[in-house]
Amino acid sequence: MTAVSLRHISRRFGEHLAVRDLNLDIDSGELVAFLGPSGCGKTTTLRMITGLIEPTSGDVLFDGESVLSTPTERRGAVMVFQKHLLFPTMNVAQNVGFGLKMAKVSKDEAAQRVEDILDLVDLPGLEHRKAHELSGGQQQRVALARALVVRPKVLLLDEPLANLDANLRITMRHLIRSIQKELGITAIFVTHDQEEAVMLADRVALMFDGVLQQVGAPDEFFRAPRTTGIARFFRNGNFLRGRRQGSIVRTDVGDIEIAPGSTNGRDGPTVLTVRPEEVQLVTKDTPQDNVVPAVVTSLIYMGSHSQLTVTIGDTPWQIHAPAAFRASNGDTIQIRLPRDHVSIVSDDDDTVAEQSGAAPPNQTTIA
Ligand SMILES: Nc1ncnc2c1ncn2[C@@H]1O[C@H](COP(=O)(O)OP(=O)(O)O)[C@@H](O)[C@H]1O
Ligand SMILES: [Mg+2]
Repeated sequence: MTAVSLRHISRRFGEHLAVRDLNLDIDSGELVAFLGPSGCGKTTTLRMITGLIEPTSGDVLFDGESVLSTPTERRGAVMVFQKHLLFPTMNVAQNVGFGLKMAKVSKDEAAQRVEDILDLVDLPGLEHRKAHELSGGQQQRVALARALVVRPKVLLLDEPLANLDANLRITMRHLIRSIQKELGITAIFVTHDQEEAVMLADRVALMFDGVLQQVGAPDEFFRAPRTTGIARFFRNGNFLRGRRQGSIVRTDVGDIEIAPGSTNGRDGPTVLTVRPEEVQLVTKDTPQDNVVPAVVTSLIYMGSHSQLTVTIGDTPWQIHAPAAFRASNGDTIQIRLPRDHVSIVSDDDDTVAEQSGAAPPNQTTIA
């Protein structure tokens, strides 16, 4: 069991700062997902943890001790990649046992550990199959077994499921999570897929452009995204500009009450958001507070629900409506922004201002 601390780590490639002043403490036995778009610095961060590259500045600690002077092969951080890089002509047992052979583990012990780990990844009986005779999913299980059999301190998974089809991906997520918990191994899982991060991780660390944006339990990214960019990454583009006074936001379409505990931002120009699945269509049975008028611009039947697009003032909003909901473009409807689902976001780009045509940019930034 190993705790990992990243202290102010940065990595420069020539002029390009790929990772910027990243700070993160990962508990022993925790599974953290590094999430972010391609090129944001996820792999670079993993490589600094394994020792494949050095940070330009900052420190990497395992259980409070710097590992920067410990070479990769003695650091105990093992990586699993998107492409499994198995030895094609070796059989499964030889592939999995390779690291044990290098570590001069006795033949009998190695054979037992290989057998146990193949059971764990749900591949019993395939010991003698050649790597190139396996399906993609089986190969990825072998790669996982090969990483785990050496009993690493830290398991680093770099988009390991990106090449698999959707169903297999879900099975493998469950397998990885259950093995990680069973072994109590500290793990970092890299992905650009927010659904995958949310399903797998104890905590998600979201990165944009080399900078850590928000770290927290998966639900925090839905309940309380820190910025408009973070909300967008989690498929919520619903933003309404206004002026906050305590627990009220005054907007062009009326006053919106926010949850009393909302601590993000302060009084003054502000942006509020409500996720598409939390916006309510007003009927005579719904509470009548926090209701605003909205004009329907499109309605698309999606099977389990209908995706309704409206404009509030001139700002487009998405709403998950019941599948049977009917409306025509141009209809004015009443929608409710339930107080407990209204959160305040910092505006980290100009799109919101452009959409609403509201306050000039120099007044829209929230510290
Ligand atoms: N060896 C390298 N030399 C130069 N630039 C690199 C190198 N490795 C990564 N980069 C750059 O650093 C940035 C982050 O890359 P990477 O960590 O691979 O992103 P991610 O894994 O999030 O897709 C990218 O702009 C990439 O081009
Ligand atoms: Mg990468």
